[in-house]
Amino acid sequence: MPSGSATSAAVPNDLESYWLPFTPNRAFKAAPRLIARAKDMHYYTPDSRAVLDGTAGLWCTNAGHNRDPIVAAIRAQAAELDYAPAFQFSHPKAFELASRVAALAPAGLDHVFFCNSGSEAVDTALKIALAYHNIRGEGARTRLIGRERGYHGVGFGGISVGGIVGNRKLFGSLLTGVDHLPATYNRAEQAFSKGEPDWGAHLADDLERIVALHDASSMAAVIVEPMAGSTGVLPPPKGYLQRLRTICDKHGLLLIFDEVITGFGRLGHAFAAERYGVTPDIITFAKGVTSGTVPMGGAIVKKSIYDAFMRGPEHVIELFHGYTYSAHPLACAAGLATLDLYREEDLFARARKLEPVWANAAMGLKGLPNVLDIRCVGLTAGIDLAARPDAAGRRAYDAMVHAFNNESIVIRVTGDTLALTPPLIVSENQIGEIFDKVARTIRAVA
Ligand SMILES: Cc1ncc(COP(=O)(O)O)c(C=O)c1O
Repeated sequence: MPSGSATSAAVPNDLESYWLPFTPNRAFKAAPRLIARAKDMHYYTPDSRAVLDGTAGLWCTNAGHNRDPIVAAIRAQAAELDYAPAFQFSHPKAFELASRVAALAPAGLDHVFFCNSGSEAVDTALKIALAYHNIRGEGARTRLIGRERGYHGVGFGGISVGGIVGNRKLFGSLLTGVDHLPATYNRAEQAFSKGEPDWGAHLADDLERIVALHDASSMAAVIVEPMAGSTGVLPPPKGYLQRLRTICDKHGLLLIFDEVITGFGRLGHAFAAERYGVTPDIITFAKGVTSGTVPMGGAIVKKSIYDAFMRGPEHVIELFHGYTYSAHPLACAAGLATLDLYREEDLFARARKLEPVWANAAMGLKGLPNVLDIRCVGLTAGIDLAARPDAAGRRAYDAMVHAFNNESIVIRVTGDTLALTPPLIVSENQIGEIFDKVARTIRAVA
């Protein structure tokens, strides 16, 4: 068969055409890690090896994989309505899902703008914040404040307010007029804390320094992850988010919680805002809303923000923003079935109940070779490993490869940190299994 024919392209060893995201492509193609199907807590490789999912995909399959009610809802929707224009037209499930998402959000956040990913959700939230100030006659409020080590996806908005250097350094000047709060992590003060560390609330006061430098009249919004996930699980210090809220209120800044990871049960509540008793002005979400099955994201905004736009002639568009696939019918159907499943199985409460079991198991890794710190909150854990000399990131990368090939578990790595974030259906036995596998992996890469 000549190379490049349809048949040869279909065989699994033709790996060249696909440029994988956030993946070392050459190493991957030399030794691919392929997943062919999944069910509940497990993936299966093309040769049917079961692999435990220690990370809920990319922190998204909160209800577990290929759950029957979600699969059925997607199937039925595809047969009934594949697509309806998102601009000037809509379909019933878009409204239904918006109401259901708003009902899960803190009181007062009651309008939902849909998009297709966390990155788009962040861009949407930042644009709404800028436009909100503008239409209220405060158009000079343009400065956006993010945080060092923050991750807000890969759009230009998200990498500008984000604080992970590798995601920023190759892409030019990014958005101008962006400042960053300091990261909330300090190993000397916080190592091996379970849950929210005691030290660090004062770091929110740095926002006052930024206000003193630029003046509030030039500042639009602050965006943070309530728990910084992608950088390696940094739970917020006790009182930190409350302090940010107070300072934002004092200076008229909008507070945006990027809950793309923390939304839909990861920290034992529908949103982290509820766990921390802090109500932001905008919440971004994605991932868990459909349990990772169909791409979807969105921004939930306060009524006062939505209402500020609802003026002018009624035939004129109020916000010039949106995506062809905003509130896509398949995503809405998947979202509704997912939210039903979360409710029927009480999965957010389940995560809350399992949190101490999870935390004890995670802290059991303390003392293993090269383990410098362990952090956990909700059903998440970050484990910092000592870097190999002159090879930053190599030990954790080796751990991820070893874990998949030899321990049959998927773990995530960022730098030399391992991250674990299982589906919320994980059993206590499986929690034990996850940490046994990770412990053996850590020893194997010593
Ligand atoms: C907090 C946060 N915001 C935004 C994103 C980007 O989401 P996506 O990859 O769906 O664009 C992520 C992804 O992990 C995230 O963790």
